[in-house]
Amino acid sequence: MARDSIPYGRQIIDDEDIASVAETLRSAWLTTGPKVGDFERAFAEFCGAREGVAVNSGTAALHAAVRALKIRSGDEVIVPAITFAASSNAVVYEGGTPIFADVESETLLIDPNSVEQKITARTRAIIAVDYGGQPADYDALRALAAGRGIRLIADACHAPGATYKGGKVGTLADLSAFSFHPVKHLTTCEGGMVLTDDPEMAAHMRRFRNHGIDSDHRSREKSGIFSYDMVELGFNYRLPDVQCALGIAQLKHLSLWLDRRRAIAARYDEMFEAIPFVRPLAKHADRSHSYHLYVIRLNLDQLKVDRRRAFDHLRAAGIGANVHYAPVYHHSFYRERFGYQLGLCPQAEAVYGEILTLPMFPTLSEAEQDHVVTTVSELKHLR
Ligand SMILES: Cc1ncc(COP(=O)(O)O)c(C=O)c1O
Repeated sequence: MARDSIPYGRQIIDDEDIASVAETLRSAWLTTGPKVGDFERAFAEFCGAREGVAVNSGTAALHAAVRALKIRSGDEVIVPAITFAASSNAVVYEGGTPIFADVESETLLIDPNSVEQKITARTRAIIAVDYGGQPADYDALRALAAGRGIRLIADACHAPGATYKGGKVGTLADLSAFSFHPVKHLTTCEGGMVLTDDPEMAAHMRRFRNHGIDSDHRSREKSGIFSYDMVELGFNYRLPDVQCALGIAQLKHLSLWLDRRRAIAARYDEMFEAIPFVRPLAKHADRSHSYHLYVIRLNLDQLKVDRRRAFDHLRAAGIGANVHYAPVYHHSFYRERFGYQLGLCPQAEAVYGEILTLPMFPTLSEAEQDHVVTTVSELKHLR
């Protein structure tokens, strides 16, 4: 793909972001200094949660959430079939077994009916993925979890700023994981955060991100203590101050960027109404969408090409189309480790062959968007 082509996602970095990073680079703390807490408080406040625990990726955020729930060998955790592998990898890191639930074809969100069928006496948690930026059906999932000792994790990596029945993403599950990778809504280069209202789980995750040690270097400096205890096996998942400084600066733009994403999605929706073989993913009326991704389904019955040819056509026109995602259990690791086979989640498998992710980022211009829609409309004539 040419360098000046239109990617599916693109970060925005302005002079204020750079100044914020530069200021921290000149400060006494490059990592685990004052910016970590500042960023945690600012992001938690934006999302309406009590506690934020910053870590160095969305994957680490999911891992910390799974550890906070004390998932271990023999435990089952239900995860949607269509998601980035990190959602279920986090369960495997802790020795748990991911059980894949099917998704709703119209939205690619985890299907509560399928979740219900997959619950067993070993089910300890459900990881709901807010696919593309639309919240999952948290009321239905909570009803399934209630009374069975099942906890709820939101993989909200796609959905900061979205809402479900008026409630903000970040407050809808016991723990909510976010990613600050450059294609996401705001970036810290790599980075992530877990939000929760539970101070004990937050304290546990702060320890977990620092090797399982019960204090950090800065707090020991302050209190003049050199000794510490490692109380569990943790990891180095710390998010440096320099990156938190970038996150704090980025967060100031987030509301505006969300408005832009929604306006771009509305314009796509309107333009695709005239193209009968394109169906944008559906939106539930009780939710607001934050559009990390803009995903369409191709009605292949009306075309002479398959998704692969459609993808190639867009790429040849300089459009960074993508596919999010193959069912996770299609990956050889999952087939070999857990013996999962094709046919496990029929809706996910069928819809996987029809989806394409189109460019979606706040600085996407109308001319670029017109080029995307025109190129998609050309699929009609391909054979
Ligand atoms: C749904 C989902 N979960 C988890 C992650 C992992 O986030 P990170 O790349 O920050 O580790 C991603 C990243 O793309 C994601 O899309």
